[in-house]
Amino acid sequence: MLDKRKRGWWQQAVFYQIYPKSFQDTDGDGVGDLRGIISRLDYLQELGIDGIWLSPVFRSPQVDNGYDVSDYRDIDPMFGTMADMEELIQAAKERQISIIMDLVLNHCSDQHIWFREALKGRENPFHDYFLWRDGGPDTPPNDMESVFGGPAWTYVPALGQWYFHQFAPQQPDLNWENEQVRQALYEMIRFWVDKGVEGFRLDVIDQIGKDPDRKITGNGPRLHFFLEELSREAFREEGLVTVGEAWGADVERARRYSAPDGSELSMVFQFQHMCLDNATWEKWDVAPLSLVKLKACFRDWQEGLYGQGWNSLFLNNHDLPRIVSRWGDEGAYREVSAKMLATMLHGMQGTPYIYQGEELAMANIRLPLEGYQDVEIHNFYNKRLRLGYAHEDIMASIWARGRDNARTPMQWTAGENAGFTTGKPWLAVNEDHKTFNAQAALADPDSVFHYYRKLIQIRKDCPVIRDGRFSLLSPEDEHIFAYSRDMDRAHLLVVCNFTGQDRPFTMPARFCQARTLIANYPEPAESLRPYEARMVYCED
Ligand code: GLC
Repeated sequence: MLDKRKRGWWQQAVFYQIYPKSFQDTDGDGVGDLRGIISRLDYLQELGIDGIWLSPVFRSPQVDNGYDVSDYRDIDPMFGTMADMEELIQAAKERQISIIMDLVLNHCSDQHIWFREALKGRENPFHDYFLWRDGGPDTPPNDMESVFGGPAWTYVPALGQWYFHQFAPQQPDLNWENEQVRQALYEMIRFWVDKGVEGFRLDVIDQIGKDPDRKITGNGPRLHFFLEELSREAFREEGLVTVGEAWGADVERARRYSAPDGSELSMVFQFQHMCLDNATWEKWDVAPLSLVKLKACFRDWQEGLYGQGWNSLFLNNHDLPRIVSRWGDEGAYREVSAKMLATMLHGMQGTPYIYQGEELAMANIRLPLEGYQDVEIHNFYNKRLRLGYAHEDIMASIWARGRDNARTPMQWTAGENAGFTTGKPWLAVNEDHKTFNAQAALADPDSVFHYYRKLIQIRKDCPVIRDGRFSLLSPEDEHIFAYSRDMDRAHLLVVCNFTGQDRPFTMPARFCQARTLIANYPEPAESLRPYEARMVYCED
């Protein structure tokens, strides 16, 4: 059992991300809720995870599914009550599961009292909580675009001013230069720590040091000053785990974010590996994945943070398409390839994150445009249409990369609505739940679920997975991802065939007598079979 009072406990932990809207509904309104999560804690305990990263459950108008917070100290009624939240924290703790909340500190909702006050006039004390620039209705301060499409500035006629928002207009950016803003956020964080929350995921945290006049959003000049202050003032509790979302992080920056002295964060979610199959800077244009590049990317991070920082390990989250559809095989090798991808990731150094349904090999969904709920998808569709793209091409991008791929309801059973709700689900349930669901997976000892359970256990049993040095084997091989981990006399080898064909592979001599810890085919063969993965271990 992990001692969570100990510094760095999260280096031995495995986390599980819950997107509450889609996890489990208990009141029949078609939207998941906190009581639903409580009712599934036994399932998560069986999987063996140590903590839950809970996507936002704060009060919110839900323009961006809770990433637009209108009250940081309250629970959205859609998800339940504060009493439910307290019960969840307690019930999870009883199972040695920590709750990690998702803090959106870069921006809030336009319905937050701070913004409603700010709109009242330039003299209002909350006005300076946001970023305003003077100007006429036809002259925005500059041509910056928001991440969801459209201008990053919105005009307020009554004030004769524009406010800055990196996301939707309903998500005004907070002015981190204002010390009162920072102190208000730190106090709010302490409020949740006092309730028993054991860590935080920090939404787009690398964007808080922005300088919109110079068109700088990520990695701004004041970012590290703010992060160090945040860490000092709000995270001083021993043992809190803090995970920053940082799209702009490279290895060097991540060393600073996740420095072992704890001056900033525990670790960051960086996305370099997740951008390798983009054809352009935009995620919507898909290119084939080069395995050689993927391997080099993981190597750079594994070697680059060794002893100098800490990696988070993930292939999925609520913003990314399902990995089995992306780098695996949705067809005949669906479960085999899901296990292969998991093996590749879980043998590395870092803290693994499993996104809900990943342990069931959940896949992407194809809906007509009207079926999608995500604000980003609809903005993207309209933008591409204006640019002259054909409907079919736009839909192909959405099917491949739209965020709702990850947000379809969790598949609990083969029954109606996959056991997610007795009402009408807020987003379509994937038809494939008849085959891929938790009930079936729990009953089948060979399922992807039990494979993940085993991987988690292996990580706990093998210190070399936590601490060993990473070495990439055959970096130029375009089909096989093989690496070793070495620490003192302990050696681990991970071998993964990323293709649907048999591939020759010669076991390095020192591993010939090694013991198989886990594999997705029963016995080893001459060559590696489609999507085969093996993790073997030996000692000198
Ligand atoms: C992060 C979240 C994403 C959200 C955005 C704005 O990228 O993961 O879901 O839309 O920030 O808060």
